[in-house]
Amino acid sequence: MIKKTTLEKRQFPRIMAKLPIRVTPQFFGESIDLSETGLGFVLDKPLPLSKFQAKIEISPKETIETNFRVIWNKQLVEQKKFMYGVCFIRFKEKDLKILRKSLTTTYTHNLINGIKEIYKKEKVKEFWDLRFNSYLNDLSVLSSKMDNELITQEDAFSHVFQINNKILKQGDELETFLQDRVLVRKIKKIFRQLCGPWVYRSDIVRYAYEKLRGYPGDYELLEIIYDKKILSRNIGYCYDNYFLENPYAVAVRNRKNKMKEILLRFFKNATIDNLSVLNLACGSARELRNIFVDEEFEPEFNIVVSLVDRDKEALEFSQKILESSSQKVSFRFFNHNILDYCKEKEKYYGVLGEQDIVYSIGLADYLPEKILKQLILFCFNLLRPKGILVIAHKDSKQYKPLAPDWWCDWTFYHRSEEDVVNVFRDCNIFNIKVERDPTSVMFFVISEKK
Ligand SMILES: C[S@@+](CC[C@H](N)C(=O)[O-])C[C@H]1O[C@@H](n2cnc3c(N)ncnc32)[C@H](O)[C@@H]1O
Repeated sequence: MIKKTTLEKRQFPRIMAKLPIRVTPQFFGESIDLSETGLGFVLDKPLPLSKFQAKIEISPKETIETNFRVIWNKQLVEQKKFMYGVCFIRFKEKDLKILRKSLTTTYTHNLINGIKEIYKKEKVKEFWDLRFNSYLNDLSVLSSKMDNELITQEDAFSHVFQINNKILKQGDELETFLQDRVLVRKIKKIFRQLCGPWVYRSDIVRYAYEKLRGYPGDYELLEIIYDKKILSRNIGYCYDNYFLENPYAVAVRNRKNKMKEILLRFFKNATIDNLSVLNLACGSARELRNIFVDEEFEPEFNIVVSLVDRDKEALEFSQKILESSSQKVSFRFFNHNILDYCKEKEKYYGVLGEQDIVYSIGLADYLPEKILKQLILFCFNLLRPKGILVIAHKDSKQYKPLAPDWWCDWTFYHRSEEDVVNVFRDCNIFNIKVERDPTSVMFFVISEKK
């Protein structure tokens, strides 16, 4: 399903570097670009054969040697030169390490040189030279072992799990130490460029990073998280699995289950004949599908469920899935941007009407405090007496979304239970209780209208 991609399908990071190159025995030239798999270079004289050995001067002190095969060539008539694209046949691990280090140095050179404070410069340099290079070496070795079937998926995953956790911890320590948002943003960008060629072989992580629908966590990705199905092979398998087993994905699945539990409890205790439910930022509405389609819940009264999302395709998806629900349940679909509710309250009170449950899971973490407050007020005013408002949020004291941040460039508003409860209180809503998912990463602020 998620094959579409805008990322260049390059296997390895590449540097566009002019390095002296000598092709044995007596051809001299200059590289144009260089990666772990191949090289582009220009020579003064044409090569007579297609297989050669080359020495590449990575730095004044470091030279690597490799055998290569010519893939393409071109004569640069005006310059009287000859251009070649070659693939490497064999590398010693020692030479590969030198090459990788040089790739990292080239990518990070300007960043490090641009840091004025010495104490920051040293820490950043240390991160790339020691921590990151070691991670990249391990990753590359594991990947090639998997490609050559020299390691089982389980063993490879267990290694990837360890090296990922380690580099994320080190990255997070660096971020805390630097206290410099602009610099950290640049570091994360280079981090993704350098390890992306391996990490984004995971269809899931790549999809999460690319945000093809324009924002993080769209309904298709949420469906993947709910289905918990690995889609990719080799090193991609490891990163699919790492993403699906990450506390973030676990908490998302739990959040959906907890919301289902809250809804069913409300339905079972309801004493009125017709119930109105409003789901804001419904996405694929998996909790509703679980209740009304998978478990074929038959309510004793009529329920009208209104689903709101700004993504039309998410609404169409939900509509199709929910079609086979009980006849006692009807659905209304609204392609609204929730931010408009804060601007034109009266209009949308009229459109949506009074509600018995208003809930939102997977939205509040993306909203700044001012908007969240206005939305809570708007929703609470929609409630009939004894109606409830349920807002789910990730707990910043329980979980820091490092993997979504470092590999997928996702940012959330970090809030604790106290922070969100205070937003409710600022809206003069005091009848509040809080429930949690089994891992405690997600909390649900539930408020009943008197
Ligand atoms: C993380 S998903 C959560 C979906 C669903 N509630 C769930 O938990 O599976 C976030 C959803 O919010 C929707 N969304 C984000 N901002 C929105 C806005 N301003 N107005 C309406 N929908 C929005 C997105 O389209 C997406 O479907």
